[in-house]
Amino acid sequence: MKKVTVVGAGNVGATCADVLAQKNFLDEVVLIDIKEGFAEGKALDIWQAAAINHFDTRVTGYTNDYSKTAGSEVVVITSGLPRKPGMSRDDLISTNAKIMMDVVGKVQQYSPDAIIVVVSNPLDVMTYAAHKASGKPASKVFGMAGILDTARYRAFLATELNVSPNDIQALLMGGHGDTMVPLPRYTTVSGIPVTDLIAEDKLNAIIERTKGGGGEIVKLLGTSAWYAPGAAAAQMVESIVNDQKHIFPVCVRLDGQWGQNGVYLGSPVRLGREGIEEIINIELNEKEMADLNASSKAVKSVMDVFDGMNLI
Ligand code: NAI
Ligand code: 2OP
Repeated sequence: MKKVTVVGAGNVGATCADVLAQKNFLDEVVLIDIKEGFAEGKALDIWQAAAINHFDTRVTGYTNDYSKTAGSEVVVITSGLPRKPGMSRDDLISTNAKIMMDVVGKVQQYSPDAIIVVVSNPLDVMTYAAHKASGKPASKVFGMAGILDTARYRAFLATELNVSPNDIQALLMGGHGDTMVPLPRYTTVSGIPVTDLIAEDKLNAIIERTKGGGGEIVKLLGTSAWYAPGAAAAQMVESIVNDQKHIFPVCVRLDGQWGQNGVYLGSPVRLGREGIEEIINIELNEKEMADLNASSKAVKSVMDVFDGMNLI
């Protein structure tokens, strides 16, 4: 029985459940929300699209009933407040950290062996919080951000170069925020270095747009993005459940890699049935290391805020 739970049936959670259902490789997707009837309603709507979109994956929804999540292989956590215009992701910590503690405790009770994929913001610190609350190895608790951030970068490059975004291979490291570290040296278009195809000033403008990519959508919509984030989380679930061993940028705890200790940063990993099966220790030059160190400092300062909340 291949079963996955998505906690939070809001914009990102429901989209993730919908994408998972349409991929049609699971037996059941369970949606959970705290708002009465909300998960039930979203699940029913997604399930009613099964005959149209040709899938059999059952989609069910429950208000706070974690007994229905028992035996999940993967749990995606999207519960919590999204950003409003003018807010940074870090502004969300006081509310979302408490929600994360509550949710992880309940998930653990019914699916102690589940791999946890964190989506709630501030992403890197919520991953830290979920990992601490779970007591699991760090290879089983990690966060989604890098797939989204590289997808935005690939979309902007595809538009500029007039090529398919699928041909663009890209890597990005660091925290999910303004200090993220896109790596043009590790960006190719069907094997051609991107720097051979685009002028430096245009590439730099795309990198800056990628760093502000979440904020650009918040400004347009008044809340944060959901189609690409939901699809990105679903892609991680698929790589885990189907043991695909994709190399993705994922938020993980670093224990010595790139000189970082105990900090949660986006890094290239191999993602399979065991969760994080390897952190791929790529070589970074002096400038890239300086950018990663700056990102690490920014994430650490918010991890300290979480520690100061004394929730564990
Ligand atoms: P949303 O407001 O549409 O959905 C959040 C849902 O969580 C709501 O339905 C709410 O009722 C539910 N919830 C709140 N407390 C809960 C609890 N204790 N148990 C179960 N459910 C609970 O928000 P949206 O847009 O879906 O965003 C969700 C989170 O994901 C936000 O923190 C947002 O910042 C983050 N996010 C992260 C991204 C990333 O790249 N990591 C990308 C996009 C959003
Ligand atoms: C995003 O990048 C807000 O983290 C969310 O869209």
